[in-house]
Formats: sequence, structure tokens, C-alpha cells
Amino acid sequence: MSTPTTQIQSPFDIQWVRQQFPAFARQINGHAAAFLDGPGGTQVPQRVIDAISDYLICCNANTHGQYPTSRESDAVLAQAHQAMADFLNCDVDEVAFGPNMTTLTLALSRAIGRTLQAGDEIVVTRLDHSANVSPWVALEELGVKIQRVDINVNDCTLDVDDLKSKLNERTRVLAVGYASNAVGTVNPVGEITKVAHEVGAMVFIDAVHYAPHGLIDVRTIDCDFLACSPYKFFGPHSGVLYGKRERLKALTPYKVRPASNELPDAWETGTQNHECITGVLAAVNYIADISRHTTEAKLGRRQALEASFTEIHRYERQLTEKLISGLLGIPDVTVYGITDPKQFDHRVGTVSIRMKGQSPAEIANRLGEKGLFTWDGNFYALDLTERLGIEDQGGLLRIGVLHYNTEEEIERLLVELRGMA
Ligand SMILES: Cc1ncc(COP(=O)(O)O)c(C=O)c1O
Repeated sequence: MSTPTTQIQSPFDIQWVRQQFPAFARQINGHAAAFLDGPGGTQVPQRVIDAISDYLICCNANTHGQYPTSRESDAVLAQAHQAMADFLNCDVDEVAFGPNMTTLTLALSRAIGRTLQAGDEIVVTRLDHSANVSPWVALEELGVKIQRVDINVNDCTLDVDDLKSKLNERTRVLAVGYASNAVGTVNPVGEITKVAHEVGAMVFIDAVHYAPHGLIDVRTIDCDFLACSPYKFFGPHSGVLYGKRERLKALTPYKVRPASNELPDAWETGTQNHECITGVLAAVNYIADISRHTTEAKLGRRQALEASFTEIHRYERQLTEKLISGLLGIPDVTVYGITDPKQFDHRVGTVSIRMKGQSPAEIANRLGEKGLFTWDGNFYALDLTERLGIEDQGGLLRIGVLHYNTEEEIERLLVELRGMA
């Protein structure tokens, strides 16, 4: 069955974008590799690779030494903190780097645990990745009660009424995702934060999945903490934690005695991965350059990021519309999550499906042979696949649309899936 093709009209310079990523030269069995696996980790532009190797060649040293390479290392690490502060719209001392989001979240939840008492409550959701569930559930050992927010099964959106009903004066933390890494739902994090603050709870947002798709503004959201992972937004493997200054200062992180108590150092346990942090700086600059590249205007970095994400959003939405309308036209395919284009402002282009009679792993394997990289399983969104009753059936096949994907890649994927139906 064929589906009409939507022609994309966009000022977005996809040719320039594609040229930035050396990985796109990869061929599989004579097919160009199509990286639709972004939700598991994105490819990186050449400048990120160069920044990492330049760091290792030129200023590879530990911090705060009295010699040139150490000072240069300190300087580039400070620039990377500033880049992430611009990315999140916060102050530079409110940004801590770490190995990944999971490790940072475990460190934060343990530190928050030091302030909790039996009978306190924490709210988590069934839509979230386990990295934003297990670190909080671990605090049950302190006598903390965990409340779990349900989803609307028909479109995999968060049941916000259920969330509100679970907040009360005993709630200490609400842990919620910005966007689902399994089905693409974007949660109303600003609204949710406001209601959580009304009962005096702190709000932790897992923005790992949202970060490559949209501009994050921690000041507008007003969340207390937020974490993301640069390897999901065109950087190297690493993690970033934002915390409101007064919140970070009020907590006592687990750390060693000689390590600084200043922010953000107190939260950056041990020696950091300096070369990757340097790569994060290059990744943020790459995103800013997506818009700088198409305008004469001299944009500051935050302004440029804002303009880039506007272009990214518009372009990704067109690809997502093409993908979802194509998938809905394939017999025996079920799309999980929001499928109504009128609701597409509440989703990103991460689209998960099941196909009658075929396991997601089989489909992913067949697509992989054609150079189409997708993921199968639960992607650690285990509460969700269990809630949907598909965990024991191989979970989902996940197709991830990013700004570096093309209409042609989506068409190739749809052709293969139609051939399997
Ligand atoms: C939504 C979401 N949250 C958290 C994580 C965990 O991030 P990290 O790998 O940086 O620990 C992931 C990783 O896939 C994710 O997709």
C-alpha cells in the first residue's frame, strides 16, 4: 500500500547539517546507514571529535595546577559549563557535569534522602525511564512512600489529574520526565512544576529525551533540578545536572573531604571526563550554529540556540508527520503514543510501533540489514511497557526522528515496513 509523500518546504539547511557528521558515510550491505536510533544516542559532528582529540593533544591535565596545560584545561572546562548554562538558561555554577544522567540522579537522590523522614512521599510516573524512577524508589528503605502516576493508555500521555491527586503536603519530590524516550510524549512540565510547588515539593525533571528536540529553559519551568545527557544531543557520553543554586547549596552531597564545597565542584565527584566535557562545548556550539549558519544576524549563543531549536522543531515535525501518517497506512501496525497531528505539539518525533505477528527484535534486525537503525525492547521505560501489557512480547520497535534525518530515510523505512506487512 502506498502513502502520499508530503514535500518538505523548510529554510532549514539539511545539506549543511548532513555534512557535519562523518558517521553518515557509513554503508551497510550497500545501503547508506540511516540513524533512526537517536533516542539511544546520537551521532556527533566532526567538531566534537576534533575538540576531544585537541584536548587530549594540547591541554590534557588535571585541574587547578600551577602550570599552562592545567590552566588551559581549567579554562576550557569553564567554557563548557558556560555553554551548558546557556543551553539550559541558568547560571554557570548551577551546572554540574558527571558520567551520565543515571549516576548524577543517583547522587542527587541519595543526597536528598539525607533530608527525608519516614512518611515523606515521592511521586514518580509510569511514563518515565527507570533512571528517573529507581533512584527515587531506592529511598523506600528510609520509609519514604512512593506514589506512581498513571498514563492515559490510549495515547500514552501522562494522566495529569492522577498526578495532581498524588501530590499532598507530605510530597517532598516530584520526579517527572520532560519527554518520553519510548513514545515521544512531551509532558507539561511548567504546569506540573507549579502544582508541585504549591504543596511545597521539589521538582526533578529528566530532560534527557527532550534535549535534542527543543529549547530547555529551567528559569521558565522553575524546576528545582533537571538532568540531561549530551550524548543524546550530538555530544560525547556524559551527563549534566542543573540545580537551583539555593537547592544545591542546601543539600550535602556524598563527597570526599579534600574536594571543594563550592558549586558546582561539590557535585562533580572525582576527576571528570575532561575531554568529553570539551566535546560538550563543541556540541552546544554546533546546535547554535544551525541557525547562525542561515542568518546574517550576529546571534548570542542562547539566542542562536533558541533560533536553532525553532528550525529543528519545524523540520522534525514535518518528518514526524510523514512517518506517522505512513505508519498508520500500513496494515497490522499499531502506533503507540500521540497520532493526531493536532496534538503533535505534545510529542517529539520518537515513534514506537508493534506489527501483528512479528517481534520488534525481528523487525529491527531486518531493518538493520538494510542500513535502517532502530531499537527494540523497553528502552528502560519498563513501567510503561508493563503498563501497556507488551513487556513479555518484546516491547516496542522505536524509530527516532532527529534534525539530521531526511525525508528519504523515512520513505526507505516505510517501504521496508510495508514489505513486511
Ligand atoms: C529519558 C531518559 N532518561 C534517562 C536516561 C539515562 O541516561 P544516561 O544514559 O545518561 O544515564 C535515558 C537513556 O536512554 C533516557 O532516554
